[in-house]
Amino acid sequence: MKALILSGGRGTRLRPLTHTMAKQLVPVANQPILGYVMKHLQEAGIKDAGVIVAPQTQNEVRNYLKDGSLWNISITYIVQDEPLGLAHAVKTARDFLGEDDFVMYLGDNLLGTGIKDAIQRFKKEGYHCMIFLKEVSDPRAFGVAELDAQGNIVRLVEKPKVPPSNLALVGVYIFSPVVHEAIEKITPSWRGELEITDAIQVLIDSGYRVKGEILDSWWLDTGKKDDFLAANTTVLDEYTVRKIDGDVDQESTIEGRVQIEAGATILRSTIRGPVVIGKNAVIDNSFIGPFSSIGTGSKIKDSVVEHVVILEDSIVEGVVRLEDSLIGRNATVKKSKSLRGALRLMVGDHSRVEI
Ligand code: DAU
Repeated sequence: MKALILSGGRGTRLRPLTHTMAKQLVPVANQPILGYVMKHLQEAGIKDAGVIVAPQTQNEVRNYLKDGSLWNISITYIVQDEPLGLAHAVKTARDFLGEDDFVMYLGDNLLGTGIKDAIQRFKKEGYHCMIFLKEVSDPRAFGVAELDAQGNIVRLVEKPKVPPSNLALVGVYIFSPVVHEAIEKITPSWRGELEITDAIQVLIDSGYRVKGEILDSWWLDTGKKDDFLAANTTVLDEYTVRKIDGDVDQESTIEGRVQIEAGATILRSTIRGPVVIGKNAVIDNSFIGPFSSIGTGSKIKDSVVEHVVILEDSIVEGVVRLEDSLIGRNATVKKSKSLRGALRLMVGDHSRVEI
């Protein structure tokens, strides 16, 4: 079984964060989403993965995944010149995939469960395709499945205006090589993409065994999440374990599930988990409350923060209370020294400030 990780495409939906980074690399609880994907593939025993990359963002993706040895997976990079659809990505990877079964994992999807058991069921039952479904409140932004009374999939529709059910397709698919024939039979959709849902529909109509399973864990399509903080909160809640590798002075208190990475320094502060604090961050005379991620190299001084995501190399100083906030990379939030209490702001494109 090989893997195909889709890490190309355009990152328009997570702007402004993805003006400057590939959407699959946006950190959730301080780890790029692709890191969770790799972990799940490693747990499932995958040794060989193709990674679809876009010309514009491929360098960052390569810098992060490198040759995959961190996860014991050998990586082959495959450049897709234009994001012409998920099935087009499979077509682009045709030589790499050969005649093997493969699991296709969308690089912006985060699942609360691994895929090891599912892969075993796929092999044991001899399915041609296995997909995962999850109930969502508004399925119009997803592929949607229509089931018959026995629970078999009869129809899949991509981003329907009138959804036939509230079961969305999760971004993990397991295929046998018959999918390549199906892809040859489809044509671009109304949005100009070769849709993988259309290829799966061809498999169903041709009598191949397509199995849909209801996913029993949480699932986040981070590529669409307008509430990025909610994704961070879920992941912190599920994955954070207490692990203190940084330096904590005598005057500080660390409560609960707090992860402090090597090189981080905590001085005269209280940290109440779940919280992750990245490498070389400095927390000085501050309170870091639950559900906060403080990025690598960031500095929090004389401040109280809670339920915040602060990405790399940013500064928060003299802020009495900052909550429910997302701060990008290399940003500064600082108490003004102005006697008149005036605000001094430099707010970038697509930003939002509430005062
Ligand atoms: O997340 C689940 C949904 O993913 C499914 O419910 C839909 O059926 C499926 O079509 C897909 O929809 P999205 O609109 O979310 O796909 P998106 O364009 O965001 O692409 C998903 C990932 O694949 C993303 O990491 C970018 C990458 N990609 C996308 C395209 C279109 C590529 O690498 N190449 C591409 O050509």
